[in-house]
Amino acid sequence: MSTVFPHTASAPGKVILFGEHAVVYGRPAIAVPVTQVRATATVEPAPPRSGLTLIASDLGKSVSLATASQDEPLAAAARITLDHLSSPEPDATLTISSTIPIASGLGSGAAVSTALVRALAGFLGHTLEPAEISTLVFEVEKIHHGTPSGIDNTVVAYEQPVYFVRGHPVERLAVAASFTLLIGDTGTHSSTKSVVDHVRQAWKRNPARCDALFDQIADVAEEARRAIETGDVDALGLLMDENHALLIELDVSSPQLDELVDAARFSGAMGAKLSGAGRGGNMIALVEDNLTEEVAEALREAGAVQVICTTVTTTE
Ligand code: PMV
Repeated sequence: MSTVFPHTASAPGKVILFGEHAVVYGRPAIAVPVTQVRATATVEPAPPRSGLTLIASDLGKSVSLATASQDEPLAAAARITLDHLSSPEPDATLTISSTIPIASGLGSGAAVSTALVRALAGFLGHTLEPAEISTLVFEVEKIHHGTPSGIDNTVVAYEQPVYFVRGHPVERLAVAASFTLLIGDTGTHSSTKSVVDHVRQAWKRNPARCDALFDQIADVAEEARRAIETGDVDALGLLMDENHALLIELDVSSPQLDELVDAARFSGAMGAKLSGAGRGGNMIALVEDNLTEEVAEALREAGAVQVICTTVTTTE
C-alpha cells in the first residue's frame, strides 16, 4: 500500500581497485564504495492520475513513465522496480540528483539506479535487501553497458568492499588495516560500453594473449585480496602498479591516465592505476595519510580536474 509521505534514498559512487575488464571474462575483481560522492532520489506524491514523472535535476531532464521509451534508463529502473513489487504506477514525482561525475568509472549509472529503486520501493512501503536491489539494478546496467559484469551494481547496492566473480554470490571483503586512496579525474569522459567492446574485439582476434593477460590480472586481484585481509598495505601499492601495467598491455589506458598515474608515483604514492573502463575517467593512487595533500596537488598540476580523497576503513 502506498504511503503519502515523501521518501528519500541515496547510493554511493564506487571505484574498482583491481580486476576491471578481466572481471567481464570471469576473473575476480575488488571494488569499494566511495561515500564522498552520492546519488540521491526523492519521491513525492503527485495529484491523482498524474502518473510517475522522473526528473534528473542535474541534466535538466524530465520524463513521464507512461511515454518514456523502453531503453530510457530512469524509466527502465522505475518499471523494473514496479514489476518486481507487482505495483501499479503511482501518482508521484521522483527527483534524482548526483554528485558523482558521469562516464568516468565512478559508478554513476549504478548509483542513480540504486537510489531510484530504493526511493521508489520505500515510497511504496517496501524495504528491499541489497541483493534484491543489486539484481534489479543489474537489469538497468545492461541497458547502459550491454554486457556488464555486475560488479558496479553489487558494490553500490551493498555499499561495502567486495570481492566479486561474475555469476558467484558476492563476498564482502574483510579490511584488516584502513588505507587511503586519492581518486584523480582526467576530465575525459569514457564510454564503458565502447571500451568493453574494444577489449572484446582484441580478445576475438587473439584470445590466447588476452586470456593470459586476464589470468595475470586475476593473480594480482587474488594477491590484493590477501593483502587487504591481512592489512599488508605496502603490498597493495605494488599490486596496483602491476595491475596498471597489465591494463596498458590491454590497451585501455590513455596518455592522460598514464600522466596522472606517473605524477602520483613521483610525488610519493605507494602505487597507482587507472580505475574502471579506462581510456579516460578516473585513476586511483594509494597514499600514506601524511602525503595526501602533496600527492593531490601533484595530480592537479598534472591535469586532474577533480581529486577525491577516500579512506577504506577496517571492517570488524
Ligand atoms: O563502469 P566502469 O567504467 O567502472 O567500468 C566497469 C568495469 C569493467 O570491468 C570495465 C566493465 C564491467 O562490466 O565490469
